Amino acid sequence: MKILITGGCGFIGSNLCCLIKSKYPSYHVYAMDNLKRRGSELNIPRLKNLGINFTHGDIRNPEDFDFDTTFDYIIDAAAEPSVMAGIGASLNYLINTNLIGTINTLEHAAKTGAKMVFLSTSRVYPIAYLDQLKFKESDTRFVIADQQNIPGISPMGVTELFPLDKARSLYGTTKLASELIIEEFRAFLNVDAVINRCGVVAGPYQMGKVDQGVIALWIARHYWKGTLSYIGYGGTGKQVRDVMHIYDLFDLVDHELHHFETVCGQTFNAGGGIGSSISLQELTMICREVTGNTITINAIKENRMGDIPLYVTDNTKITNAIGWVPKRTVKDIVTDTYQWMVANEQQLKPILSI
Ligand SMILES: NC(=O)c1ccc[n+]([C@@H]2O[C@H](COP(=O)([O-])OP(=O)(O)OC[C@H]3O[C@@H](n4cnc5c(N)ncnc54)[C@H](O)[C@@H]3O)[C@@H](O)[C@H]2O)c1
Repeated sequence: MKILITGGCGFIGSNLCCLIKSKYPSYHVYAMDNLKRRGSELNIPRLKNLGINFTHGDIRNPEDFDFDTTFDYIIDAAAEPSVMAGIGASLNYLINTNLIGTINTLEHAAKTGAKMVFLSTSRVYPIAYLDQLKFKESDTRFVIADQQNIPGISPMGVTELFPLDKARSLYGTTKLASELIIEEFRAFLNVDAVINRCGVVAGPYQMGKVDQGVIALWIARHYWKGTLSYIGYGGTGKQVRDVMHIYDLFDLVDHELHHFETVCGQTFNAGGGIGSSISLQELTMICREVTGNTITINAIKENRMGDIPLYVTDNTKITNAIGWVPKRTVKDIVTDTYQWMVANEQQLKPILSI
């Protein structure tokens, strides 16, 4: 099996490269990355040590796909993944990478017969609808109410039937536009593909920053004793997300690669699910317990543009299709990420402690 992982030095890409190569040493794994994300370069020796081929390439350039081999699968994990991207700044990088880059990847797949696993996002679901969800307030979090006025939402979370017709952030739009183009290539150009709409993914090797990678950011600030803020919703830290361990995402992709006929042409929500949902306030408690440190957390009452109070993935469709369920808890995620930070303190401090 030959697999190309674009964004192969990023958080998800590098983990998928290493976990696939470790489980299947005879597979040929290629990582392609333009090293745009700070810290991605630290993964190159990790990949090379495992015998993974690294190419410094950019998905914005079709000629960077001129490999001297063909691939059975391409896993598309190259992106500008920040939900704040393009707000108050040029859209060029966002659109050229997240949309044009997907098209270049698809054209290569169409030419060479590769199948595609696309990592999409829960951010395809519109902000205006997520903002209208009815929720109750417990001592530590917002809780999805039983009765809702919008389809595709229940106390289990958001399903694939959630409406898609309003604005969702420029990031989410580039991913949804990619999904639409993927379907065209699948229907008319024979590119077999599966789309996974992931919620928050976290774990070791995530270079968390203020606008992306909140779990790693929260752990890093506790570990290196920085400060944090609960922003919006009264500054109470009750906003909720579900979090998926990168190892659970690997289990999912591993299954898809080896049972592609059961998932091809489908779009799945995939996340930590209600069992691995957590509020910021609750995350703080776990970070305190795991790192042993208590830090100042400020409260900013005003909501940030485009923020949402709550998102939880309903995994029913993917579980019914292939039996996949996330197995790791948020405490597992925090513990594994913290141990990675401790073990690589010197390298990571300049990147993660700011
Ligand atoms: N991390 C999450 O919580 C999450 C959730 C849902 C979906 N996703 C999706 O998963 C994918 C991977 O996200 P991640 O968290 O690993 O992000 P990341 O920033 O850690 O990794 C992305 C990698 O892509 C590289 N890259 C950026 N632009 C590129 C370009 N033009 N050409 C080649 N490489 C380029 C970066 O250098 C980086 O190494 C993205 O498509 C993202 O939308 C991530």
